[in-house]
Amino acid sequence: MKVIICKDYEEMSKKAAETIIAVVKKNPSAVLGLATGSTPIGTYSEMIRDHKENGTSYKGVKTVNLDEYVGLDINSDQSYVYFMRHNLFYGLDIDLANTHIENGKAEDKEAECRKYDELLKTLVQDVQVLGIGSNGHIAFNEPFTPFDSTTHVVDLTENTIKDNSRLFKSIDEVPRQAFTMGLKNIMDAKKILILANGKNKAKAVYGLVKGEVTTEVPASILQKHPDCTLICDEEAAALIK
Ligand code: GLP
Repeated sequence: MKVIICKDYEEMSKKAAETIIAVVKKNPSAVLGLATGSTPIGTYSEMIRDHKENGTSYKGVKTVNLDEYVGLDINSDQSYVYFMRHNLFYGLDIDLANTHIENGKAEDKEAECRKYDELLKTLVQDVQVLGIGSNGHIAFNEPFTPFDSTTHVVDLTENTIKDNSRLFKSIDEVPRQAFTMGLKNIMDAKKILILANGKNKAKAVYGLVKGEVTTEVPASILQKHPDCTLICDEEAAALIK
């Protein structure tokens, strides 16, 4: 795994955006695998700034997102589809019809998972952006998720519900379940870019880079990916230096 340690969040975001923009410039019909959470917001802002200033076009780009809360859709400002539109897509010239995410409102959840897996077979990520949870989860693949998992519905751990509650009015509003790409779907990406900032990620980053490859730390599987880069700030890198 390649590791790039940046002085702060801003530098991390710029470096990450540069990598994604380079993929799009090389292949204007690239497939971008995207993530939600606070971590990539600065990266997405940089992509929007570059689009407006330098004209990088996303007209032919397709996107697949990692995960979505069960029960939420575009009408909920806590849904990941809302997040993606407001933090990235509305700032680019991307066709929303080319942006994909699991349908949080799907009645038949199992059928939705199989449908998303089929979609991922046709849209292989040229680059997959990831954040990391403080317990080492990626997307919503919580500890002990099998490495060969595909799209599935998860019961979120108390740890993740607590971490993510800061984005909701109260902890009771955080959905208890989510759809998520599995670890195999993530490992199938051609290139992976995992981002981490802040000291509460230092332990997870240690597990990601230097720990044993174990399902206890889902991100540790990325050590086996042939083209994975971690871009993080000094605080998140505290235990790997
Ligand atoms: C959620 C998302 C993950 C994200 C993680 C960390 O659980 N499903 O994709 O990486 O949170 O979020 P943040 O970037 O806000 O720390």
